Parts: sequence; structure tokens; C-alpha cells
Amino acid sequence: MSLSTICLPIQSELRDVETVLSEKVSSPVELVSTAANYILQNGGKRIRPALLLLTAKMLGLKVSNAVPFGAAIEMIHAASLMHDDVLDNARLRRGKQSSNAKWGNQISILVGDFLWCRASSIAISNGNMKILQAVTEAVEKTTEGEILEIVRCNDFNITQEDYLNIISLKTAMLFACSCRVGAILAGASEKFEAALKNYGLNLGVAFQLTDDILDYTASEERFGKKAGTDMCEGRLTLPVILALDRCNSNETGTIKDLLLANSLDNARLCEIKNILNKYGTIEASFDAARKFASLAKDELVHFKPSLEKDSLIALADHSVSRSV
Ligand code: IPE
Ligand code: IPE
Ligand code: MG
Ligand code: MG
Repeated sequence: MSLSTICLPIQSELRDVETVLSEKVSSPVELVSTAANYILQNGGKRIRPALLLLTAKMLGLKVSNAVPFGAAIEMIHAASLMHDDVLDNARLRRGKQSSNAKWGNQISILVGDFLWCRASSIAISNGNMKILQAVTEAVEKTTEGEILEIVRCNDFNITQEDYLNIISLKTAMLFACSCRVGAILAGASEKFEAALKNYGLNLGVAFQLTDDILDYTASEERFGKKAGTDMCEGRLTLPVILALDRCNSNETGTIKDLLLANSLDNARLCEIKNILNKYGTIEASFDAARKFASLAKDELVHFKPSLEKDSLIALADHSVSRSV
């Protein structure tokens, strides 16, 4: 199912999220608004606000009340991308120049901070401490994940468990937070809130696992990000971690050389892809992603049938079958 079909039950609220996003980033400092609008109006999929709106609507909330929070979650996501592209030296985002390529690292970091503050003020204005706490905790965990990833950069002893911990923190916590805020806004019980948080966590892991596979397999034009960025930056992701367990010493040497090299041309990217294919580690990583998507769907058994529930199930499947 396509993402736009999945989002049909919340189509008009997602449009309202867009309005809030364009209203909330104005600043007397022109470059702040320009750079914030650049990242926000540049074709993001809006998965996190969709999660928040779908969970809230599934639980019976009049979902227009959730719109500002959907915008806040998207601003936090945009801020994390601005910071992440600095950390990863990425020049391309959504098929266009990244903010850091356009305005440099300083502006990217500071405008990221600005977006995070604007998102916090939306959460504060609602006066619900539980929401503010959930959002703050997610940003804290995202930051810890990004730092842990840097700490384990070029570390060939990294295990599958270490990797899963990193992606749970850097990506899945914000997915979990989106679902949790939807549940809190709807006044859900602790049990339902926990189930939706776990749905988001497992979905986020499946989503990032898929993203890390796409870093090797996707068409650059469609994916909108430069292929092989993880390898180039010394980030060991599951396809490579599994290959290092399975390959011979010559191939281990090739992988290590490529990870430590400061550039990666197409020929060298092909070399690593051949090793990953030889040992079936792309398919094994997809199996892992599908396992987490299935765990996510298991959490939804607590909820009665609805269009929104169908969309949350379809979103788990979409996250592991996507090409963008
Ligand atoms: C990109 O997230 C960062 C990851 C967690 C892999 P998305 O793929 O949701 O980014 P956009 O907003 O749709 O571009
Ligand atoms: C995604 O990081 C997580 C955050 C943005 C915090 P990645 O570095 O794996 O994602 P892409 O590939 O840049 O989108
Ligand atoms: Mg990145
Ligand atoms: Mg990164």
C-alpha cells in the first residue's frame, strides 16, 4: 500500500500540520526562517506526524486537537536531520543540497536548535507535563544514539546488539514518542500507551534497518541520499556487521580498508556490495527488519478494528518494503 493511501484517514489533518509548520517557523532573523522552511518544505514523508495522528484517531480523539503536536514532532525530526547531516558530512538530502551543504555547519546546527525550541514551545503551550516529558526524553535518547554511533565509528568489534541499541535510540525513540503522544492526547490507559510506544519502537527499528539496507541498494535519484554514506563515514550497519562474521580474511581486509578510506567511488561500492550479496547479508538484514515490523504489528492486537488500525498495520509493512 502506498504511503498516501495509508494516510487517507488523516489526510485533512496532515494538511493542517503543513499550515502549522509554515506558520511556526517565522523569525525576525531572515536566515532562520529561510533555512527552517528549506528543510521543512523539502519533501519529507511526514511519517512521524502521521503516526501521532493515526494513533490519536484510532483511540477516538477529535484529531484536530493533535495537529500542533504533529507539527512539533516533525520539527524535532527536521532538527535531527539538520544535525545529522553535519555529523555525517552529507551533502544530499531528499535529492537536494543538504542544509549544511547550502549554509554550512554553523547555520545548520543553530537552526536545528531553533526548530527544537519552537517544537518545545508547542508542547509547553498545551500545559501537559506528560507530553513535554515524553518529547524531551525522545530528544535526549536520539542524541545519545547519535553520540553512541560516533563512539562506535570504525569499531569492527561492534555486535548486532550494539547496533540495534544505537538505532533504537537514534531513530526508534522518536517513532515511539510520536505514538505515545497520540495515546496521551487521547487519554489512553497506561496499558494502551505502553502498547503504542512498543509499536513505535519496533517500527522505528524496522524503518532504520531498512534505511541502512537502502544505503547500499537504493537508486540515489529515488532515495535522495548519497549511496554508501554509512560506509564512507565508518558507520557499521547490519549488512556489514553480518558480513564481517561470515567472510574470509581477504574480504575482511577489503571491508576494513573501505571503511577507513575517506572516499568511496562506485567501483569500491560495487566491491563491498558483492561481498554483502555473496554472504546474503542484505536479505538477512531484510529478514531482521521484517521481524521488527511483525513485532510492531503484534502490539496492535489490543485495539479494535478501525481504518486507523489498518493504516498502522500497513505502515509497518510499508516501512520495510519502501524504496524512499
Ligand atoms: C530519515 O527519516 C532519517 C531516518 C530515521 C532514517 P525519514 O525517511 O522519515 O525522513 P524524511 O523526512 O521522510 O525525509
Ligand atoms: C538517522 O540517521 C537518525 C537521525 C537523523 C537522528 P542516519 O544518518 O542513519 O539517517 P540518514 O541516512 O542520514 O537519513
Ligand atoms: Mg545521516
Ligand atoms: Mg547519521
